[in-house]
Amino acid sequence: MSIYDLIVIGGGPGGYVAAIRAAQLGMKVACVEGRGSLGGTCLNVGCIPSKALLTSSAKYAELAHLSSHGIAVEGASIDLSSMMGRKDKIVGDLTKGIAFLFKKNGVDLVEGWASIPSDGQVKVGDDVYEAKNILIATGSEPTPLNGIEIDEQDILSSTGAIALDAVPEHLVVVGAGVIGLELGQVWSRLGAKVTVVEYLDRILPGIDGEIAKLAQRALSKRGLKFQLGRALKTIDKTNVGLTLTLDRVGKDKEEVIEADKVLIAVGRRPVSRGLGLEDLGIALDPRGFIQVDTSFRTSVPGIYAIGDCVPGPMLAHKAEEDGVACVEMLAGEAGHVDYNTVPGVVYTDPEVASVGLTEEALKEAGTEYSVGKFAFMANSRARSTGETDGAVKVLADPNGNILGAHICGAHGGDLIAELVLAMTKGATVAEVAATCHAHPAMGEAVKEACLDAMGRAIHA
Ligand code: NAI
Repeated sequence: MSIYDLIVIGGGPGGYVAAIRAAQLGMKVACVEGRGSLGGTCLNVGCIPSKALLTSSAKYAELAHLSSHGIAVEGASIDLSSMMGRKDKIVGDLTKGIAFLFKKNGVDLVEGWASIPSDGQVKVGDDVYEAKNILIATGSEPTPLNGIEIDEQDILSSTGAIALDAVPEHLVVVGAGVIGLELGQVWSRLGAKVTVVEYLDRILPGIDGEIAKLAQRALSKRGLKFQLGRALKTIDKTNVGLTLTLDRVGKDKEEVIEADKVLIAVGRRPVSRGLGLEDLGIALDPRGFIQVDTSFRTSVPGIYAIGDCVPGPMLAHKAEEDGVACVEMLAGEAGHVDYNTVPGVVYTDPEVASVGLTEEALKEAGTEYSVGKFAFMANSRARSTGETDGAVKVLADPNGNILGAHICGAHGGDLIAELVLAMTKGATVAEVAATCHAHPAMGEAVKEACLDAMGRAIHA
């Protein structure tokens, strides 16, 4: 068997993109994947199926609000199995597309679960493959809660929550993070009562606090119920459903709520077990993340790691950037990822999008900054579409350099791109504000927020 230049372990967005880029750079590459299809969590059970369901459920929910447009819709109903079928087809088409891209680029796909018996070797089943370099891109998995067993029938992870065969009557979501809010809103729109239980006294930790508050207000208006400052303690199965016991955080008090389904969405943890990393002496941090340097090198020469299994934001696009930079450096090129300009988007309605530092982080660091804000209520496009919830918030240093940008609002996930580009290219709030924005457009709120950071907003 010939020696590979690179064997990538994991065919998710980090791994498959790295494998294709490495092949483009002239390397002989194999990618090992055990789940039976390429695309990892993102394509199979994460980003893509959840966005398919978010779109289907948004279309259904919209029907209830068309009367203000003078449109009457009667007798609308959902066919959940068709909705799930559409989602499954999208996933199937996309994952098969990656297999096609592998063929096109000459990447060998090895199907099975890999381990690393020694540096330079990857074992899959009984076969051992030789490699000059190994790239670990094994991703992440849902973090379990002590004493709570996920059965994917009644007590669900995100995987079970995108595959229900009936709309639950009462879905309790544990964790007001990205997954909890996105999937909570899917089932709320489809008719479930949804209660979100969150340990902290706020939703969306890590997101700018003011923007998270706007999101909470808008999501509550659309039907989600929030129970903040509560930690899930136990779930008991009864004849009629599930009984959850919650701890009131800091109050020495318990509460009980009933549900027919529970989604546990309390974070994800790196997949670093089962690979033989401990025997190889690869350093992990206390939470199981593989420790790497700025060139993605682990503590063992010739073994690299990227994506969710290394420290940093757990995002598909960040994993892709890691993977490309890593293999470009392997090929002697100058790969680079700017972690200050990695955007994050929560695909709820309204969307929540952010890049760079939050106001809380700036305060904590004692950095001097100015704030520019613009509410969509004052944006004429938002008025005409009826999408007036939320605002754009820009944080800038005294020279106008953008330190962070945060949006709660319709199409926020698209609008943030302008501010990511501005930050990447070093454009100031004055330069963004001086850029001609089409009218009427939601993007004018970005321009106005930048004007506001200089005390010059026109429409506020
Ligand atoms: P998360 O870290 O975003 O949120 C988990 C929440 O659970 C936190 O607010 C935490 O305080 C709360 N929590 C923890 N233990 C609890 C307990 N016992 N009782 C009540 N609340 C508790 O994690 P999530 O939503 O599971 O997402 C995992 C990862 O997946 C994130 O890193 C996210 O970036 C990524 N992801 C990204 C998406 C996107 O970019 N659109 C979509 C889905 C996931």
